[in-house]
Amino acid sequence: MIESLDVFSSAYSFQEEDLRDKTVVMIDVLRASSTMVTALNNGAKGVIPVGDMDDASKISHNLDSQSFLLSGEKDGVTIEGYDLGNSPLEHSRDAVLGKTIILNTTNGTRAIKRSANANRIVVGSFLNLSSVVDYLKESRDEVVLVCAGWRGRLSLEDLLCAGNIIYELYPDQLPQTARDGAKVAFGLYEKFGDDIENSIKSSNYAVRLKDIVGEDDLTYCCQRSTLQVLPVLKDGIISDLNGKEK
Ligand code: MLT
Repeated sequence: MIESLDVFSSAYSFQEEDLRDKTVVMIDVLRASSTMVTALNNGAKGVIPVGDMDDASKISHNLDSQSFLLSGEKDGVTIEGYDLGNSPLEHSRDAVLGKTIILNTTNGTRAIKRSANANRIVVGSFLNLSSVVDYLKESRDEVVLVCAGWRGRLSLEDLLCAGNIIYELYPDQLPQTARDGAKVAFGLYEKFGDDIENSIKSSNYAVRLKDIVGEDDLTYCCQRSTLQVLPVLKDGIISDLNGKEK
């Protein structure tokens, strides 16, 4: 039984101390979470989330050049000189099998870095929704769903995913231990949950992202529970807990 449940609306909507000893689910539907889940599903050894290009460069210099890929975007556009952008569709099995992905994104990887005080950090998206829900059902922690958002603002797609996770945990009624953020996310899902794809495709970032990379990423990231991957951060590397002994 989860001890308490809250939702933070963006990577910058909380004090880092707020997450001490909690279980965090970081949600960045468009697209960092979806990309991490997809890369791990396609055989990547792990994902190293970094907060900026300096971190990415320092880590890459200590690794065998054949063992990793530099992935990432700035404001949705692939970072110059990187191997891949942040489209989940770029992280195919051919591209990532056996590789470690150093991932640098505008909001999602920064949300992970700011959650460093957490007891555990899990990566959630629509793609691995049921794996996240199954994991949380066994949790006894205080749980915070951290939405990456966009530069400190709320992203509808992240909050909707948080609401969907909460709805799957508590389909009938929210517990007394649900905080205001959880109630808001749950209410958003009750309003838009019957048409996830169209709701997300009309979100502020989806409209901007479509102009940059087209619609395929948006359609892909709206699929629910298609990948049974549970990305968990340990010693700076995110790997698939479902792919290993728990
Ligand atoms: C983010 O960190 O907000 C996303 O990675 C942005 C994107 O992938 O376009």
